Amino acid sequence: MPVYNLKVNGKSMSVDADPDTPLLWVLRDELDLVGTKFGCGIGQCGACTIHIDGAATRSCLLQISSLENTEITTIEGLSDDGTHPVQVAWKEHDVPQCGYCQAGQIMTASSFLKDNPTPSETEIRDAMSGNLCRCASYNRIEKAVADAATKLA
Ligand code: FES
Ligand code: FES
Repeated sequence: MPVYNLKVNGKSMSVDADPDTPLLWVLRDELDLVGTKFGCGIGQCGACTIHIDGAATRSCLLQISSLENTEITTIEGLSDDGTHPVQVAWKEHDVPQCGYCQAGQIMTASSFLKDNPTPSETEIRDAMSGNLCRCASYNRIEKAVADAATKLA
């Protein structure tokens, strides 16, 4: 199998894998970065959201062969110590219930706020609408994203 050189959370890593292996599999099974979750595997739930060059992207749909020369960031790399303003707002608003969807939610929110630091309620709702939460913590997610925007301002 070919070897791919990836940059994940600021570190260079080599992975031996078939070219069409999804990044989500590589993160969880090869690199032991299990904060990124498998939900649907078909791009529909957002549980696997990570950043590619800062943009929120679904890792279940990305083939490893397309990722050399990109910056991959997972929830483990969003901050060294859980103090990214989105993570702080998440704790203050006590957002997680079962927690399963939360890494994906936080990665979507952090990318969104970088592009739109002063969002309206509607913009927040639209930006987060592709990340499903089976515990329905949507109200707290929206409040935490709005609060994180004020922290980032
Ligand atoms: S696991 Fe990737 S979008 Fe659901
Ligand atoms: S907190 Fe349980 S799925 Fe979202």
